Amino acid sequence: MIKVGVIGCGYWGPNLIRNLYNAPNCEVTICCDRDESRLEKMKSLYPSIQTTTDQQVLLYGDLDAVCIATPVSTHYALAKSFLLADKHVFIEKPITHSSASCMELIRLAEQRQKVLMVGHTFEYTAAVNKIKEIIESGELGEMIYISSTRVNLGLFQPDINVIWDLAPHDISIISYLLQEDPITVNSQGRSHYNTGIEEVAMTTLNYGSGAVAFLHHSWVDPNKIRSMVFVGTKKMLVYDDISPNEKIKIFDKGVERPQYYDNFGEFQFAYRYGDIYIPRVEEYEALGAETRHFIESIQNGTRPRSDGYSGLRVVRIIEAANESLDSGGGAIPIISDIGAMMMPESTQEVIR
Ligand SMILES: NC(=O)c1ccc[n+]([C@@H]2O[C@H](COP(=O)([O-])OP(=O)(O)OC[C@H]3O[C@@H](n4cnc5c(N)ncnc54)[C@H](O)[C@@H]3O)[C@@H](O)[C@H]2O)c1
Repeated sequence: MIKVGVIGCGYWGPNLIRNLYNAPNCEVTICCDRDESRLEKMKSLYPSIQTTTDQQVLLYGDLDAVCIATPVSTHYALAKSFLLADKHVFIEKPITHSSASCMELIRLAEQRQKVLMVGHTFEYTAAVNKIKEIIESGELGEMIYISSTRVNLGLFQPDINVIWDLAPHDISIISYLLQEDPITVNSQGRSHYNTGIEEVAMTTLNYGSGAVAFLHHSWVDPNKIRSMVFVGTKKMLVYDDISPNEKIKIFDKGVERPQYYDNFGEFQFAYRYGDIYIPRVEEYEALGAETRHFIESIQNGTRPRSDGYSGLRVVRIIEAANESLDSGGGAIPIISDIGAMMMPESTQEVIR
């Protein structure tokens, strides 16, 4: 039985607690929050779970693992202290607020032989895994572009901008599906209500394969939209995460360029308007799959799908997007070799 503690019982933490509570081979023994009222709520839902406002109790308690669902600015320090106390650690997205701190956690987890996992929840959804199956079967052809819209009115975050808040979802989905990192990132955004904390942003990820991804994030939009469009050379796919039972639609639509033509009059694109079909997507709660995967990774001593490196891939793209945002939208290159990034700085100097 893996004994788990959860720190952070605000908006998202209770979802983790509920799923861990129901996961096999897992016992949630304690949860921690600075806010007593959140602990009272947890106690009313799960009377057997101990509660504390003091994170030290988790550090020195009889726990195998800790799940962190506190604000992003606290992730690194909390995770570091739990890894140093030889606990396996699960951190909500984004893993940390900088790639330097993420790399430190990866090294620490490797030294201590502990599982370090990040909550890239969408990688565990049935819909995203169905899309992965479809893309890998070649049905869509080569990816031309991806367009993602993740907008709503709220929830404003006090310590991070909309890119840090929402882009981890899109970036982790796209990285998981394409198994490729962008080579450059551009971003533009605006802060209107809170100086310096952008509430709306448009980010472009350029890939070496020729694909491009456009990400639209906003906390100030009249509509709640969670939609991704994948345009391939053969077919197009629309993923609407809000739709209850038509999450994925495949459009047999495309454009065909004639192979040969002698003059401009013969040169015409042929537009193909074929069928639309809705593949069946098995329903299950992604967070249940994600929390079970964490427990299994601990039990089996295996690397989780969304491990520290997966968290690092996302964070360095968000960092680049923010660098672009600060410099007016210019292209920021992404270092492709994560292994080189992870080397100690003294070794990097020699290699350069
Ligand atoms: N995977 C997802 O889909 C998803 C969705 C929402 C939020 N999240 C992530 O979950 C994390 C938490 O977000 P939220 O919206 O629940 O935030 P929140 O502000 O609603 O809750 C955070 C809680 O942590 C507590 N807290 C803060 N610092 C603490 C400390 N040092 N010790 C103990 N308690 C502390 C606060 O009192 C609060 O109750 C963030 O990383 C966020 O990005 C993930």
